[in-house]
Amino acid sequence: MDIKKVLNEATKQIERCSSQQELQNVKVAYLGKKGKITELLKSLKDLSLEEKKSTGAKLNSLRTDIDDLFKNKFNSLKVKEINSKLKNEFLDISFPPPNLIPSKVHPISKTFDEVISIFGSMGYSVAEGPDIETDYYNFSALNIPENHPAREMQDTFYIDDTDKDNKPYVLRTHTSPVQIRTLLNEKPPVKIIAPGRTYRCDSDSTHSPMFHQVEGLFINESTNMGDLKGTLIEFCKQYFNVQNLKVRFRPSYFPFTEPSAEMDIAYEIVNNKIHLGTGDLWLEILGCGMVNPTVLENCNVDTNIYQGFAFGMGLDRITMLKYGLTDIRSFFSGNLNWIANNGFSIGDY
Ligand code: PHE
Repeated sequence: MDIKKVLNEATKQIERCSSQQELQNVKVAYLGKKGKITELLKSLKDLSLEEKKSTGAKLNSLRTDIDDLFKNKFNSLKVKEINSKLKNEFLDISFPPPNLIPSKVHPISKTFDEVISIFGSMGYSVAEGPDIETDYYNFSALNIPENHPAREMQDTFYIDDTDKDNKPYVLRTHTSPVQIRTLLNEKPPVKIIAPGRTYRCDSDSTHSPMFHQVEGLFINESTNMGDLKGTLIEFCKQYFNVQNLKVRFRPSYFPFTEPSAEMDIAYEIVNNKIHLGTGDLWLEILGCGMVNPTVLENCNVDTNIYQGFAFGMGLDRITMLKYGLTDIRSFFSGNLNWIANNGFSIGDY
């Protein structure tokens, strides 16, 4: 057996390898279970005791030599790979970005600003409440008792922590709890809107688990359903910039308003584009009604003196309608190209 020859051959093959994978293949061919050296070691069993001793020792040192060759080559290949990575993936952090993407205002932010400005001009102030609510503010105080089917109208996200009533906290399913917070803190007359984030366990092209609503609440001694309709029609005319906007109010049910209605606006598709305010198709944009006296009483408001209306409008929905956007999920994609194409410059205001 020519041990020198085997060593020479192995040295050559190892030298020729230019990648770690290639080297690994050669290693298997020599030192693997069925490799050359392994086979040679196996053949020792056919030799005499004397030969076994001398050849065995030689084979063992051959195996160690070859193993060292592999180790050295692996290391040098690794260094080479790191060096070439360092060279090719060089990053100059002081280099200016090639395409400066101009900052844009998100369509939802623009809608927030417009909603606040339009209702602001009608005398509404802005109120706020927390996104994480108690069961009481989100449901019970709004006349949605436990085990009431109305609770299932809104697929709620519950939080793994309980409040002082031992009820799990919820991500608010609507902005209506701000009605309660405001009425408990302020004496009527009250005239507020509450724009903000809301959450429901629902997701498709027109529903997002996190979405936006604006709540409206107007309580005084005489406000009636006619005022409610006038307010909402005026808002839509201004927001959608359409003077003759066809709308309808459909009777509906909410535990916290009585009577209750939903407002739809008319639209039609002209040349593949949505046209608002005319036509025979209807899109629901909000729920509203006269505040249920039970809710006012829950907030210690004297219902012999005070009454009023409330509404809750989907801000994502009206934004999509206004700008002809079809997938609510695009609002929350965080895609810079999307915002570059669909966002607004401050100058557009
Ligand atoms: N909170 C209701 C919803 O999210 C909307 C609404 C608000 C209805 C105020 C009536 C009065 O569906």
